[in-house]
Amino acid sequence: MKPTYLVTGGAGFIGSWFVTAMRQSRTARIVNLDALTYAGNPDNLAELQNDPDHILVHGNINDGELVARLLAEHRPDAVVHFAAESHVDRSILDPDAFIRTNVLGTGVLLGAALRYWNGLPAGRKDRFRFLHVSTDEVFGSLGPQDPPFTESTPYDPKSPYSASKAGSDHLVRAFFATYGLPVLVTNCSNNYGPRQFPEKLIPLMICNAVSGKPLPLYGKGENVRDWLHVEDHCAAIALVLEKGRAGETYLIGGKAERTNLDLVTSLCAVLDRLAPSNAGPHANAITFVTDRPGHDLRYAVSPAKIERDLGWTPKHTLETGLEDTVRWYLANADWVRRVQDGTYRRWMEINYAKR
Ligand code: NAD
Ligand code: TYD
Repeated sequence: MKPTYLVTGGAGFIGSWFVTAMRQSRTARIVNLDALTYAGNPDNLAELQNDPDHILVHGNINDGELVARLLAEHRPDAVVHFAAESHVDRSILDPDAFIRTNVLGTGVLLGAALRYWNGLPAGRKDRFRFLHVSTDEVFGSLGPQDPPFTESTPYDPKSPYSASKAGSDHLVRAFFATYGLPVLVTNCSNNYGPRQFPEKLIPLMICNAVSGKPLPLYGKGENVRDWLHVEDHCAAIALVLEKGRAGETYLIGGKAERTNLDLVTSLCAVLDRLAPSNAGPHANAITFVTDRPGHDLRYAVSPAKIERDLGWTPKHTLETGLEDTVRWYLANADWVRRVQDGTYRRWMEINYAKR
């Protein structure tokens, strides 16, 4: 029989890619628990509208009763935990929501999963997995010449977002060490691709460029990120779920480091081809603005372990991935218009007006 996964945060950017891939490949029946915050969007799941094996539940991971009921009712074979507050700049302005969802919410989910797991019959108990989706930002910042993060890099988070994700990672591992709950942890580098909420660097730059707005780079644009297409991240998560060893952590990254200035310049070159502006090259709109406080200089991930142990390789290159992403945003102006509502406009005002 087909397994069932309880996925949290599956209406967000990465979660919706994962859920859609799992349903299109008929890998699992999906119960998708999502609070539908500003970042959760049922439009992201449009392809699954008439799929009886995808059940979207509008609810919060902090609601322990609801989580327990969903576990008892659907008897999943795995929990795949994406739900989080995910934007560093928002965490600087309002850390409370990050502590609530990322730390406390993960704690609620773990507690409910443990009680459910303890009641499973032996065979199902062995096969059950709790996969926690996390970020490379928990490791803090690298210097220009440092080797990339590995599974043994010490944690050193600097933003309320990364600190709250670090807290959740520690809780997940503690449930393995203390209770034997069969957990898996993945820490991935920066994702990009279609359906990413336009508060993050790449979709923000595309959306600003097509509407003739400035392209705001924090500081001097020297910070380095390691970019991975969301589809490759989701394939890695599926592989870890299928073949990963309980209790283990797997780092996922695209080996595609770029300074923000280089990345946005490449994006502008793609936009000049696909959506030229009458005002001249898009790169003319690049504007250096006040830096993010505590801005991590550089992230880079070594995916050696997941490549070696599980045979993962990404299929997108950054160049083709960026072009596909630009094409998607240009072709999906309705999706963009719907997410750029009053709340979004207020966020743009709060984060950028005084920079
Ligand atoms: P996102 O902000 O696009 O989506 C988060 C989803 O979680 C939304 O659908 C939201 O409604 C839901 N959610 C938030 N709080 C909730 C709650 N209390 N209960 C239930 N649902 C809730 O985020 P994303 O970019 O898709 O990231 C997903 C996960 O991947 C996060 O855990 C994030 O830390 C991790 N991650 C993201 C990146 C990246 O580059 N975006 C990289 C590595 C890891
Ligand atoms: P972001 O997409 O917020 O991801 P993260 O902070 O989690 O890495 O930002 C990626 C990089 O882009 C980061 O160095 C901050 C920078 N940035 C800008 O320069 N301008 C912007 O408007 C945004 C949103 C980000």
